[in-house]
Amino acid sequence: MKDLLRTADLSRDDVELLLATAADFAVNPLKASSALAHRTVAIYMTKPSTRTRLASETAVAHLGGTPIFIRGDDLQLGRGETIADTAKIISGFASALIVRTFAQSDVDELGSAGSIPVINALTDDDHPTQLLADWLTIRENFGSDISGRKFTYLGDGNNMSHAWLIMGAIMGAHVVTATPEGKWAPDAGVIAQARAIAATTGATIEILHDPREAAREASVLYTDVWMSMGDPESERAEKTRVLAPFSVDQDLMSLTAKDAIFMHCLPAHRGEEVSAEIIDGPRSVVWREALHRRTTIQALLFHLTRGEIHGRQ
Ligand code: CP
Ligand code: NVA
Repeated sequence: MKDLLRTADLSRDDVELLLATAADFAVNPLKASSALAHRTVAIYMTKPSTRTRLASETAVAHLGGTPIFIRGDDLQLGRGETIADTAKIISGFASALIVRTFAQSDVDELGSAGSIPVINALTDDDHPTQLLADWLTIRENFGSDISGRKFTYLGDGNNMSHAWLIMGAIMGAHVVTATPEGKWAPDAGVIAQARAIAATTGATIEILHDPREAAREASVLYTDVWMSMGDPESERAEKTRVLAPFSVDQDLMSLTAKDAIFMHCLPAHRGEEVSAEIIDGPRSVVWREALHRRTTIQALLFHLTRGEIHGRQ
């Protein structure tokens, strides 16, 4: 597999390899410090980023390479140069391209037109690199035996909810999303794909709309911002009202398993999708989770550039 365009591209074996390497990089960041020596990695983002940008640039540095950060309007793309031509040019200089943008189809096109690995660093539909960090964090807390455990995402049925379902399916986990019904539920096509993967891995996929049922006996409560990058401001008031019951607070957390953890991809809005006492409290693993954005992107760059990720056939 050349690129990581979608979470669903990854096989269980790929994820296991990436988590093992990332765990090594967490202990020794410079373990492969000449893997990308004298090479560059382009990081192209048309949406803001704190973690993914810092994690990616640091990961490239730890592999001995040089990151080239390109902001949305820096390229000639905005002046009519095609995505395909852009991909060919970047492929002539860099060893990989990390992209954050709106349309999944743009990332797919960069992947098909470019000859170097292209990594999806968030689109409107998906966020695969986040899920690698999330699953390394889950592993650190619960080990490899996750039988009997339930992993719950609460809130907006957005890119994160999609990636949560698909990665849970790949990992053979019992994954739950609890979102409002209707336009803020996860995409039906993604649910169908998660169920299809689950049929091959033994995962259980539960699509719920009751936050209390979803939280009961869960090992993880995960949430994300209610307004994603690019969401129309005109929807804010309605979304805030409809999503309010899904806010992770002490009341919901008290329903979970005794050793449950709280996770969030960040950025967080205290008092909206999570209360301050939960995200800043003892169950929260969000800082470790954020650190693993670097270790997992480093692992991904290391293995993709060596042709060692084979994909889910
Ligand atoms: N979690 C995440 O992707 O954060 P950034 O938007 O800061 O990159
Ligand atoms: N759903 C959020 C995730 C941010 C990391 C967004 O797309 O803005």
